[in-house]
Amino acid sequence: MSRHLLDIAQLERRTLDYLLDRGEYWLDPAHAEVGRTRLIGRGVALLFYENSTRTRCSFELAARRLGADVLNLDIEHSAVEKGESIVDTGTTLAAMGISHFVIRHGSEGVPAELASALPSGSSVLNAGEAHVAHPTQALLDALTLRRSFGQLEGLRIAIIGDIRHSRVAASAISIFRRLGVGEIRLAGPRPLLPDNTPEGTQMSDRRDEALAEVDVVMALRIQRERMARTTTPDPEDYREHWGLEEADLARLAPEARLMHPGPVNRGVEISDELADGPRSLIREQVRNGVAMRMAVLEWLDEENRNGQ
Ligand code: CP
Repeated sequence: MSRHLLDIAQLERRTLDYLLDRGEYWLDPAHAEVGRTRLIGRGVALLFYENSTRTRCSFELAARRLGADVLNLDIEHSAVEKGESIVDTGTTLAAMGISHFVIRHGSEGVPAELASALPSGSSVLNAGEAHVAHPTQALLDALTLRRSFGQLEGLRIAIIGDIRHSRVAASAISIFRRLGVGEIRLAGPRPLLPDNTPEGTQMSDRRDEALAEVDVVMALRIQRERMARTTTPDPEDYREHWGLEEADLARLAPEARLMHPGPVNRGVEISDELADGPRSLIREQVRNGVAMRMAVLEWLDEENRNGQ
């Protein structure tokens, strides 16, 4: 039996709290030295079938900072291009001694399929699955908010934009609900909203209502790669009606903070002034991602060694 991180919903509240505490621990530079011995002799493979900067680089840094051997599979020049399946790729790497498989894929169910095929003691870490799940993004977002506000309980959070195609939104809603966020408001242009309102949220296409008095606004990227051509919004039209700009600050709570998972379409989803301004948590999100991924790798490694 192996532990994996496939979806944030699989984690109990006490595990979420433990992981957030460990993320906090690894943010402290005083713990850098002890980190280097944690995963010595363990292999971490990065299997990115979709593009990534933040997630791939932060998993790579996290694994290296824990002392692991890191294998960054260049998908385009691998046997995948000759038709090798993901399962065969995974079991081949497992035979070379890889223990942890970080995977991003555009099709739903692929991380679970890989997990079911790997030998006992291996772990799969979902680094972004279609529109479905991005669990480590949810953890780093929760850590960022906990550091900024002290706790998530009672916060009012608006998630704005392309909710329909966003795995970031799906995982954020899940973690925010379990960490006691007071209100989760979803808003975006009608074609970019899901057919049904996710449980525990309020959803509308009225932007200003969604922003009123919130403590946090999370702007989302327009996920063009997951859209039919007919639903792709015009960037200028989107900016005018949905882009976050300086004037929006007056609608929010006085100490409100702004988030975006990246990559940011500047001047469309959020203005330069806001993205780079004092209310922005975007840089902290990226910084916290490395520590949070160290925490997740360390946890899965311990769980799977103890389960052997
Ligand atoms: N937030 C996020 O997943 O960014 P990348 O696509 O750069 O990994």
